[in-house]
Amino acid sequence: MSQVQHMVQSLSLISCISLAQSKAVVPSGTYMLIKASFKGPCKASIEIQVQGKLTAPTNGNKLIRLDTQVSFEHFNKLIVSGGGTFDGQGALSWKKNDCNKNKDCKSIAINMRFNFVTNSTIQDITSLNNKNFHINILRCHNVTFQHFNVMAPRESINTDGIYIGRSTGINITDAHIGTRDDCVSIGDGNKEITITRVTCGPSHGISVGSLGSSGIPCEKVELADINLTYNGNKGPLTSQGSNVKPTITRVPNALACATSS
Ligand SMILES: *[C@@H]1O[C@H](CO)[C@@H](O)[C@H](O)[C@H]1NC(C)=O
Ligand SMILES: *[C@@H]1O[C@H](CO)[C@@H](O)[C@H](O)[C@H]1NC(C)=O
Ligand SMILES: *[C@@H]1O[C@H](CO)[C@@H](O)[C@H](O)[C@H]1NC(C)=O
Ligand SMILES: *[C@@H]1O[C@H](CO)[C@@H](O)[C@H](O)[C@H]1NC(C)=O
Repeated sequence: MSQVQHMVQSLSLISCISLAQSKAVVPSGTYMLIKASFKGPCKASIEIQVQGKLTAPTNGNKLIRLDTQVSFEHFNKLIVSGGGTFDGQGALSWKKNDCNKNKDCKSIAINMRFNFVTNSTIQDITSLNNKNFHINILRCHNVTFQHFNVMAPRESINTDGIYIGRSTGINITDAHIGTRDDCVSIGDGNKEITITRVTCGPSHGISVGSLGSSGIPCEKVELADINLTYNGNKGPLTSQGSNVKPTITRVPNALACATSS
């Protein structure tokens, strides 16, 4: 543990002032992490190659930031790669999680957060058994997630795969997302989100919105240029929408909330 912890802390000090591209490698092996925040901005691009398995403590209260296992903030040209795994060790947390019923539920750690990250690529990484959401993407621009695996079993509670908010140009390609809740959840303020060759299941699928609370309809929702097609053999594609009366522009095929409200 001290090895990685040390590496994590020194990374922001050393690499961020270097003018040349720098690379940090977490070699294969299993490491326990109680805090990993990678913070830029850095002068040059940074590559973090994770070959090993970074595990969270089973008891989430031992994390230094209770809501986060690993975070990447304020980077331009970041590459996270290496074939490694971020293991949230969530089994204990799922039993206690009541966030689907209790608004004031205790904050439970998200596996990986990307905040204010631009022009970056995250690839060949697995996010496993997260305590809460797997990946949270907030205010990021031009970021590609590819060859990305997200896995948690059916009994895991509130384990969305990838949540995207207030971001532009996010591409998710060649990913397997197996979680209990939403596969990719698209929140407010997003533009140019491209999801290609992503398999979801047993989760709900891709969700847009999740904004309103029951009884109070979402307002000023606009659906434009959405063409959902399905290429699998378990179709047809279905969609659901409620509590919303959107303005609809160029939506060629049936979307539930586009046909009834
Ligand atoms: C991201 O890359 C584009 C194209 O190279 C560049 O114009 C833009 O300034 C970069 N963004 C940041 C925050 O450096
Ligand atoms: C995203 O990429 C486009 C095209 O390269 C570039 O014009 C834009 O500045 C980038 N956005 C940011 C926030 O870096
Ligand atoms: C995302 O994919 C779209 C469509 O293929 C492409 O135009 C865009 O440049 C890609 N963005 C990034 C950040 O790779
Ligand atoms: C929607 O996408 C399908 C498959 O890519 C395509 O065949 C169809 O022409 C598209 N429809 C519109 C209205 O863009």
